[in-house]
Amino acid sequence: PRRILSGIQASGALHLGNYLGALKRFTELQETGAPLFVFVADLHAITVWQEPEKLAAQTREIAAAYLASGLDPAKAVIFPQSAVPAHTELAWIFNCVGRLGWLDRMTQFKEKSGKHKERSSVGLYTYPVLQAADILLYKATEVPVGEDQKQHLELTRDIAQKFNNDFNAPGYFPLPEPLIQGPATRVMSLRDGSAKMSKSDPSDLSRINLTDDADAIANKIRKAKTDMEPLPDTVEGLEGRAEAKNLVAIYAALADTTREAVLAEFAGQGFGAFKPRLAELAVSSMANVTAEMRRLMADPAEIDRALAAGAEQAREIAEPTIAEVKKIVGFWQG
Ligand code: TYM
Repeated sequence: PRRILSGIQASGALHLGNYLGALKRFTELQETGAPLFVFVADLHAITVWQEPEKLAAQTREIAAAYLASGLDPAKAVIFPQSAVPAHTELAWIFNCVGRLGWLDRMTQFKEKSGKHKERSSVGLYTYPVLQAADILLYKATEVPVGEDQKQHLELTRDIAQKFNNDFNAPGYFPLPEPLIQGPATRVMSLRDGSAKMSKSDPSDLSRINLTDDADAIANKIRKAKTDMEPLPDTVEGLEGRAEAKNLVAIYAALADTTREAVLAEFAGQGFGAFKPRLAELAVSSMANVTAEMRRLMADPAEIDRALAAGAEQAREIAEPTIAEVKKIVGFWQG
């Protein structure tokens, strides 16, 4: 049976990349009717330091973004990862299934640990193993994510396969498919078309935050780096023009259309004409989401109710699976 699952880290400030690469996709998938699990990855967030007095608010903020972008607690199971202990339990077992060599290849750890590998938390290193546990605990078959999570999904499949083999449990864990789809699976920085849009970029002009108001959004698009050429009439014509390519992809994703259709409309026009239209589109498509996020955050009772109900539903699914896994591994049953 199909089961769709994904998560976003509770480490603050969501941006347009998270919105187009993840949030917007979740709400589209919700309408397919397949069971959908969407959680706030607070266990993942603490792999780098989080102020304890801020963490719960950050968790609520991601949950608010889920609700504001259209996830319906009656259709999707929305929960904080730390409220389901089985994530951590399964992660430990997977720590003993996954191989050091597999983790050594993870590019995200290399990026995030930077020059200070020996001072990174152990959790940051084993982070993808926890992600595998998140996914396989629910026997998810499809995982909608941005391009940057592809390698973690491959690791998840490797862990599933090795577990199934090692414990002679063929097919016990399904091999989940990453859903990396649409025109905006890798939204780039507005200041540098070769860098991913990310919350860790020191320049706030590099990204559109989900909390930016209309003026800030328009200003950032006006200041976005571009070249001097008019827009081409084919997608191939965008090759070698990273910034142009990125803005066209963002337009297509916001307008729910293809890059081809965007170019059909704007071919031959320069950025002086394109940018104001993009700004208008970005403001109008995100305004409702940001306004609704603000409303929800003003009184978190509704968010907390959704998270509590979601956590209960998630535990109901997770508990029998972790019990079964413990049996498969051979732990004492009493
Ligand atoms: P996180 O919190 O960094 O990002 C959340 C989602 O946003 C996507 N994303 C982007 N998409 C397009 N362009 C960008 N510039 C961009 N930046 C981020 C990410 O690909 C992701 O889909 N490890 C995960 C969270 C996680 C998870 C999971 C996901 C934990 N357990 C289980 C799926 C399944 C992460 O750090 O995402």
